[in-house]
Amino acid sequence: MTATATRPRGPYAFEYARLAVPDLASSINFYTDHVGLSLEERSAEHAFMRADTSHHVIELVEDTTLSDFHCLALGYSAESATVLAEIRQRLEDNGIEVFDMHPRTAALVEDGFAVKDPNGQTIEIFTGFEEYAEPPLVEWRPLEIVHPFLSTPAYRESQNFYLDILGFLASDFIISDGFGASSFIRGEDRYHHSLALRQDNSYYVAHLCFKMKSLDHVMRGRAKALYKDVNIASDIVNHSASTSIAFYLYEPQHGPRIELCDGHRVFTPEEHETHQARRMTADPRNIDVWRAASDDWERF
Ligand SMILES: [Fe+2]
Repeated sequence: MTATATRPRGPYAFEYARLAVPDLASSINFYTDHVGLSLEERSAEHAFMRADTSHHVIELVEDTTLSDFHCLALGYSAESATVLAEIRQRLEDNGIEVFDMHPRTAALVEDGFAVKDPNGQTIEIFTGFEEYAEPPLVEWRPLEIVHPFLSTPAYRESQNFYLDILGFLASDFIISDGFGASSFIRGEDRYHHSLALRQDNSYYVAHLCFKMKSLDHVMRGRAKALYKDVNIASDIVNHSASTSIAFYLYEPQHGPRIELCDGHRVFTPEEHETHQARRMTADPRNIDVWRAASDDWERF
């Protein structure tokens, strides 16, 4: 029997983030102009924005009491009804309460449920996410949303939840006794990571990653940010683990840091089943190939 047939299967891919923002109209403009997303549906309180054919990658929900964004939910697909049922069973076997998805997203999927991770973050898992026949007729846009990066004081509990219970697979670890310990973990779509965890003092969604069409599209996004004085929180890096080149925007009223990347590693089907997660030293060169020395952390 192959490893594929015997191991538990995890979620398939990261599909969307639902973000509460203080000013819906202003955030729609940000995601349109600086991330390349297309507005597809809007009401007084919410908006769906898509990147490619998938129904949406960002849902914005207006909450005028906020000054900065708040992440309401992260959505993951499962590849089949069987896998969805197996994931649900593992959660219930571990005494973790499963509840209904938000009615707006529940209406867009075949079947699904929601659960809270050890940080209290709502995760929605589902099959049959609606899609469009064609991508938007927009040249500068992401091909997909790739991963969220979660900073958490409940690092071990989060590893247990995502790896041992949900069934994500480990791609790489950054080893540290405290702050900075990181886990890059993947779903069944074989992207090097569909979720990353980092040990920190408080919980927050540190960034959302979008894959652009090419390095030129990443650099055009960087130029657009510079031209409009949008804050670049971390400039161009070459990620050692996922072999992607990226930079990060950060306007907290609109969302977490937004990583625009080119060239994210996808494992082959064989690597996906056999890869042993590397245990990498907490050294900036293990995060960005272009760092100068072991203490060159300044520009992250
Ligand atoms: Fe990332």
